[in-house]
Amino acid sequence: TDRYAVIGNPVSHSQSPFIHNEFANATGQTLQYEKLFADLGKFDEVVSAFAAAGGKGLNVTLPFKGDAFRFADEVSDNARLAEAVNTLSFRDGKVYGDNTDGVGLVRDIVENLDVPMAGQRVLLLGAGGAVRGVLPSILAEKPASVTIANRTVIKADALAHQFRELGTIVACGYEALAGQQFDIVINGTSTSLSGELPPVPAGIFSGRSLAYDMVYSRGLTPFLRRAQSEHAGMLADGLGMLVEQAAESFRIWRGVQPDTRKVTNMLREVLA
Ligand code: ATR
Repeated sequence: TDRYAVIGNPVSHSQSPFIHNEFANATGQTLQYEKLFADLGKFDEVVSAFAAAGGKGLNVTLPFKGDAFRFADEVSDNARLAEAVNTLSFRDGKVYGDNTDGVGLVRDIVENLDVPMAGQRVLLLGAGGAVRGVLPSILAEKPASVTIANRTVIKADALAHQFRELGTIVACGYEALAGQQFDIVINGTSTSLSGELPPVPAGIFSGRSLAYDMVYSRGLTPFLRRAQSEHAGMLADGLGMLVEQAAESFRIWRGVQPDTRKVTNMLREVLA
């Protein structure tokens, strides 16, 4: 039986085994999927041992996406641009790295939520690894513009500069958003993990804006509550992205595209 795992620190909370087992059942594939904990600084060791024991692939979660990027022999364009890998494949003695986070986010927004990105004004909050990881895929949708707002403005500037050839990108601080409205506002900061709110000025949402939090949670995150109080047209958390990025990893490994809706609905019930 082909073996896969999710590697992280912590990893006990991961929903990936559930998701991939559901995909395997639904597509008639036989595989084993486990959780792999690695101490900080031990990523290469743990991954090498897993591959040597015949492991076929790994999903990589925090804080190891950069380690996985460096560990891979070859990486996809998305992974190269993101400088991060969330999907490793072991084939013919080689290690292949990919990044499916951006594809997962875009599929959730464009296909599941039915909100097109092409020609739209997109606002990204944050300029850390989460935003870098999804930026290439967002730009590939050809939005009218992408604005990156961050507390530390130089980090947003650096991202805008790095990706300047892929689209129209504006970098700024939060205050500079005052007086502007956006069609799609994506929270890629880590604020929701600590119950905080990114300091967005009032008025950035319109009645037809999508407010999307890359973090998922039982109730609304502070960011989504704020968007709701400002009457944003649609609210979504990152559960759909979680399942879509997993589906893209599954496709890379197994060559079949699993249906995601049922698994997302099941996870939503588990969370409720
Ligand atoms: P990740 O890999 O999750 O993106 P990160 O690289 O540590 O993690 O980035 C965290 C992001 O959340 C950053 O954009 C950070 O802003 P700074 O670059 O200014 O630090 C943002 N962030 C975290 N806490 C925040 C807060 N209380 N208000 C605004 N932004 C915050």
